[in-house]
Amino acid sequence: MKNILILLGSPRADGNSDKIAKAFAEGAQKNAANIETIKLSQKQLKGCQDCRKCWQTGKPCVIPDHMQEIYEAVDKADLIVFSTPLYWYTWSSQMKPVWDRFLPYVSKEAPRTLAGKEAVLLAVAGDSSEEVFKGLVYSFEKSCSLLGMKIVAKLTIPGVYNPKDIEQTSALKEAEKLGEDLTKN
Ligand SMILES: Cc1cc2nc3c(=O)[nH]c(=O)nc-3n(C[C@H](O)[C@H](O)[C@H](O)COP(=O)(O)O)c2cc1C
Repeated sequence: MKNILILLGSPRADGNSDKIAKAFAEGAQKNAANIETIKLSQKQLKGCQDCRKCWQTGKPCVIPDHMQEIYEAVDKADLIVFSTPLYWYTWSSQMKPVWDRFLPYVSKEAPRTLAGKEAVLLAVAGDSSEEVFKGLVYSFEKSCSLLGMKIVAKLTIPGVYNPKDIEQTSALKEAEKLGEDLTKN
């Protein structure tokens, strides 16, 4: 059974990226996957301080904030879903600190890494052009490559601005199928 961690990057409750992540989870539930969902806007997350103290306390990072519980969830996960609205052509401000705080996993002293974990990008944007996701997708691909994470799916949904817009698209069905397909034994 797969352990799935879903990171919700929007501050809006039940907005487009929450809805697409929920659809993914519903698909994964059909295969009885273990799912943990974390709404990042409810957490206090500092950015990386570049203090070069990664792992000095035995934990990835010395900052005593909610990233500590996210590290535990990340370590347990086989597959991590990054569900984000596009903000200024990149990650939302809620999601970005998580990536910054993955820095310990690329340090030479890292006793464990994210290598081999699967990664899924679910992203939504108000603009109707697919092209607006270029920067976000580039960041996702390069970061996963550096961390050794295996990208198994990228679902980018343009043209959804208001919270319920995604219901008018085929994205929820696609996400549900993806959740089911990626958790099949
Ligand atoms: C601060 C901010 C920045 C945004 N930047 C972009 C952008 O660069 N491109 C775009 O197409 N939409 C942009 N949007 C629109 C959101 O991506 C869009 O409304 C999305 O559906 C929000 O997702 P949510 O319902 O999951 O919160 C921005 C919205 C906010 C609040």
